[in-house]
Amino acid sequence: AANGAKAGKTRNIVEKMEESGKNCIIFYGSQTGTAEDYASRLAKEGKSRFGLETMVADLEDYDYDNLDAIPSDKVVMFVLATYGEGEPTDNAVEFYEFITGDSPSFSQDNEVPLGNLNYVAFGLGNNTYEHYNSMVRNVNKALQKLGANRIGEAGEGDDGAGTMEEDFLAWKEPMWKALAEKMGLEEREAVYEPIFGIIERDNLTPESPEVYLGEPNKMHLDGTPKGPFNAHNPYIAPIQKSYELFNVKDRNCLHMEVDISGTNLSYQTGDHIAVWPTNAGEEVDRFLSIFDLVHKRHNVISVKALEPTAKVPFPTPTTFDAIVRYHMEICAPVSRQFLATLAAFAPDEQSKAEMTKLGSDKDYFHHKVNAHHLNIARILERVSKGKKWTNVPFSALIEGLTKLQPRYYSISSSSLEQPKLISITAVVERQELPGREDPFRGVATNYLLALKEKQNGDPNPTPYGLTYEIMGPRNKYDGIHVPVHVRHSNFKLPSDPTKPIIMVGPGTGVAPFRGFVRERKKMVENGQEIGRSILFFGCRKSTEDFMYAKEWEEAKQAMGDKFELVTAFSREGPKKVYVQHRLKERAKEVNQLLEQKAYFYVCGDAANMAREVNAVLAQIIASERGIPEAKAEEIVKQMRASNQYQEDVWS
Ligand code: FAD
Ligand code: 2AM
Repeated sequence: AANGAKAGKTRNIVEKMEESGKNCIIFYGSQTGTAEDYASRLAKEGKSRFGLETMVADLEDYDYDNLDAIPSDKVVMFVLATYGEGEPTDNAVEFYEFITGDSPSFSQDNEVPLGNLNYVAFGLGNNTYEHYNSMVRNVNKALQKLGANRIGEAGEGDDGAGTMEEDFLAWKEPMWKALAEKMGLEEREAVYEPIFGIIERDNLTPESPEVYLGEPNKMHLDGTPKGPFNAHNPYIAPIQKSYELFNVKDRNCLHMEVDISGTNLSYQTGDHIAVWPTNAGEEVDRFLSIFDLVHKRHNVISVKALEPTAKVPFPTPTTFDAIVRYHMEICAPVSRQFLATLAAFAPDEQSKAEMTKLGSDKDYFHHKVNAHHLNIARILERVSKGKKWTNVPFSALIEGLTKLQPRYYSISSSSLEQPKLISITAVVERQELPGREDPFRGVATNYLLALKEKQNGDPNPTPYGLTYEIMGPRNKYDGIHVPVHVRHSNFKLPSDPTKPIIMVGPGTGVAPFRGFVRERKKMVENGQEIGRSILFFGCRKSTEDFMYAKEWEEAKQAMGDKFELVTAFSREGPKKVYVQHRLKERAKEVNQLLEQKAYFYVCGDAANMAREVNAVLAQIIASERGIPEAKAEEIVKQMRASNQYQEDVWS
């Protein structure tokens, strides 16, 4: 009955395990692909080290009422990410509601509903958010309540502290031990077995119409893309205009307007837009080169799953070039475990020893790799001193690297003002780091920067610019386009426009508030009455990164004293001034507005800013109302629970 149902495929997990001979199923709840990736890694490891018959499964592809019918000689693993404000990921919503429901109804009438179920659990979370790892915690609690038997600890990985990978590695060793004991498994010498077969298609060329060159699916290949546009099917949207928001040489912030007219896509002010990036040509070349694939980059291949339950993560037939450019996250942080796997395929003994060391020594790995933000190809180049890694099976790369993920942006336009034009406000990710010649550059934002430069015909593109396939696969899009889809969020203006609002958004955190302010300005122009709207914005200097300065003046003109901008320029005086300092200066008014049921919004950096703003707000409430801070913190918590306090934050 669920949305994930695919024609002809069973939604019955017990049936599926029986017909495929599996004894270990690994369910994932994943939003950005990390949980899915960890699930695949557990599957691979379970098979190669312990001979388990493993299978990875998307939670939304199955029903849950027969979890009670899974026999006790089998095991179910849950790898569950927590998304946003303690929510399940999109694909785990139904499972979560089912399992944490008051009395989930199962297929059998067992005295202990899940008495037969053996399970393992790992959560992916971010401790800078209020509801840290609430998915795995709540699911674990629910499973315990239903009498299921947990094997090992319920692990928790923390993206906030940047220790996700290490948390995962540290959790899984004792888990495997406990599992081996419980199920009587013998550990064996791990041997690599490819999950995917690569078939050269000599009769096809990249010009053959059935060959995918980066098109995300069949409709796009056939030139007949149609909605619904979503995480599996982007809309290739024309960029109507794009421009630079900063006034400084070494940093860029982009404003981009994406046209969704003529589609059934829609958005509401405060939603997110997902951008599907393309890898930079330089990084594609580096990757193909180190694996010695340059000479056959345009050869046509089909990729087949050798395991009935494995899924090829991109459409084929295709080419190596297209896979690497459009479908693989080739620049992301690399896991130590993956380096250990690749050691077996090293071009010489020295490289093999180095890879083994990187794979097993956490501090050494950090010092050599992570501190410089090296991607896989850069690591291998350094390790082998340029010698090609010809022995690495391409399947190992498909298995070891994640799918290229869309990046989310808080929509910075108002749907009331421009329902078919979505704007993005994105700061370009570029960092000079010790130990490298060129700066580290983020995947999606540098792609967007290149699109902007192309669109404006900038005669002197930034010296850091990378080269991209701008016109899409087969050069088929004229004009500047970007593949996107919309993700609805709960970050919303009050439905009653007369309610006051307080917005706190330094840096690109201002994005959704540009939308909010423009929406209220439009309401005023339509003759509607609106409540007071205060925006706390912070940046380094009024002359450098003061985004949308002119627009705030226009808003002021149109909205009068209904709108106020409060600025915090952090690098203009002898002391840092941040938005939370300004909030404190305005304590009395902030408290009064909250007492009038003002909505309070925070957007931007999750790691420090959002936390500090939360703390300052509690201090304001405590001092203004003359109550203890603990009580004020409780009030802030209640404000969050009732949606009077809303966050749109990222790290
Ligand atoms: P990526 O390539 O994804 O790199 C991002 C970070 O990952 C790097 O800074 C680095 O810390 C780490 N990293 C990547 N590769 C490596 C490596 N090899 N080794 C070590 N570390 C590595 N951003 C905005 O500018 N504006 C917005 O309005 C906005 N809204 C958002 C809303 C939501 C809900 C979310 C989740 C995020 C939002 N973001 C926003 C952030 C945005 O989604 C992207 O994360 C950001 O633009 C960087 O993307 P990128 O592809 O350029 O960088
Ligand atoms: P800084 O870089 O000078 O420290 C947008 O990035 C603005 O947010 C900048 O002015 C930046 O100041 C500021 N900022 C940095 N850390 C912050 C924090 N913990 N709380 C609020 N603002 C912060």
